Order: sequence, then C-alpha cells, then structure tokens
Amino acid sequence: MDEKAIQLDMRKVGMADRLTRIFDAWKELKGGDRLVITNDHDPKPLQYMLKAKTKDAFSWEYKKQGPLEWTVEITKLPPRGDLIPEQLEKREKLKAALKRLHEAGPEELEKVKKEVEVYFKETDPKELALAEQELIQEGTSRQEMRRLCDIHLEVMKEQLGVKSKKIKLPASHPISILKDEHEIIKRNLKKLKATFEKVKALGALDKAARQMSTLKELSHFFVETEKHHKREEEGLFPRLEAHGIIEPPQIFKEDHMGFLAKKKEFYNAMMAEQKDFEKFVGAVGPIIEYLTKDLEEHIYKEDNILYPMSLETLEKDEWKTVRKKFDAIGYCCFTPADFKK
Ligand SMILES: [Fe+2]
Ligand SMILES: [Fe+2]
Repeated sequence: MDEKAIQLDMRKVGMADRLTRIFDAWKELKGGDRLVITNDHDPKPLQYMLKAKTKDAFSWEYKKQGPLEWTVEITKLPPRGDLIPEQLEKREKLKAALKRLHEAGPEELEKVKKEVEVYFKETDPKELALAEQELIQEGTSRQEMRRLCDIHLEVMKEQLGVKSKKIKLPASHPISILKDEHEIIKRNLKKLKATFEKVKALGALDKAARQMSTLKELSHFFVETEKHHKREEEGLFPRLEAHGIIEPPQIFKEDHMGFLAKKKEFYNAMMAEQKDFEKFVGAVGPIIEYLTKDLEEHIYKEDNILYPMSLETLEKDEWKTVRKKFDAIGYCCFTPADFKK
C-alpha cells in the first residue's frame, strides 16, 4: 500500500484556520501516512493537542529545528496493526492488571499485587511502556501513572535487575555514558544523606564546618548533573518519540523539572550565609530527603525500564545520531573521561 504525505506550511495559513486545517488533514490520513508541518516556531503544542483530541498513536520527528523554520513529520501509526492476536491479548491483560492496581484501595493493595504479579513477570520493558502509554491515551493521568509505576516496579524489581545486567555495551555507547554517570550520582546521593545526618548529629553549624563545605561541594555537583538530563531529553527522547513512544519520556521530563527546582533551592541555600542551625536544617532537610528518594528512584527506572526499552527500540544508526547530540550538548565535569576524545 502506498503511504501518503500531506504537507502543510503553517506560515501561509491564517491563525484562525490553522487547527481546522491540521485536524482535517489528520482525519484524511490512514495508518502509516504522514503529516509534514512547517512553521516559523516550534509546533510542539500540537503534539499535546493531537494526544488530547485524538485516540491515534503517532510518532513525532523533527526534520528541521529553527531558528527561522521548523519542520516536523508526524506519522499516524497503524492501529496496533503490527501486533498478532496473542500480543494484543497480552497487552490487554497487562492493561487490565495495571487498572486493577490503579483501582485497588490501600487495604487490598497487597492482595491485588500478588494476583497481578504473573502479568508483570513475563513482560519486557518496551511492552510495559506501550501498555502504560495506551492507558494514558485512554484517560489515566500521568501523575496516577507515576504512582502505578512505583507499584509495578516493586513487583518487577527482581526480574528487571537481572535483565538489565545482561546487556553489555561499549563504554562509548550513549547508554553506557548515562549509566556510568548514574553510578556517580548515586554515590553522591549517599554522601549527601550521610553528610547531612552528620551535621544534624553535631547539633551546631560551627561544629560542622567540614561537613558544611562538603554539602557546598555537593550542591555544585547536583547542579552539574543538569547536562545529564539535558542529554536524555534532547538526545534520547526525540528518538523514542520518532518511534511513537511519547508518553514515557514525558513522565521522565516532568521528573527532571522537579529535580531542577530542588537542586537550585539546595544550591542557593548552600551559597547563602547560614547562621541559624535549626533554620538551616528545616530548610535543607526536606530538599535532601526529596533528592535522595526521588532521584534514586528515577535512576532506577531509567536503568531498568527506559534504557533497556531504548536499546530494544532504536536502530544501530540512530545511536550514532544520539551520540552526536550528546557530544554537542557536552558532558558533566564528572563524566568518566576516557571516551570524550
Ligand atoms: Fe533522567
Ligand atoms: Fe538519567
């Protein structure tokens, strides 16, 4: 079957008619067909609108990214046409299991967890991500999906850990770079927690001068991790979106935004002159608690779900594109250095 492409140059369409033109064109498309949109600014809001207004799965790939001209190719994906009946059945069962977890009240959660365990045990990360994506498209909020993630991750923890350990990659592979950085970030999260505990135990700021200077260094370190997130967002996520995996990266992006705010708060607190012990502990304590818990979990999900899923999804050549983008964005001062040349 011949796939068609509809080209729309938004610069030539009046503001009032733009959405009508786009959605009319979208209706005309069959699975596999493309809508190519050119605009004078990033048409990103359209991605959210398409998700909100249609039930269609699509991939989203930038062909040109400004500054004056933006082109995006949106492919309407065949309605799960690549799945054989057994796979469809499996996905529906997985979605039903996720929904049951979603609806379980606190008193029955443990029981439901045990009952649905079997569906997660035989699921690979990509299959799980696609089931989650369909649920979001059907109306589950992203926030709720994040809570669900934590629950089913707990159920899958053992099996995922074994799987991700089996993947061997060269040190110069984008995923190796990210994972190596994760190890260093995790070490520093531990150090952060231990140092702060020590400050609390010493009970006064003048007794904790050494620990305070370590906290200061750590606040620099965590600001420096921003480039790691940026490489994920701008190097890896667009490739996943180009394969129609749009929702999971969105959840990770929202996490990143939360971390950035807290890291800045921590950094500002460490740069300010601190005189009052109680005030300092009260201000910095919740930030450190949030970072040590949520960032650690975020890293776990990336190592065990997002990255293995990416390795299953991207073609070999695409990893070269990812690596080029990584090089252009740059690395963190703590990135293991041997591949940077
Ligand atoms: Fe991340
Ligand atoms: Fe990461």
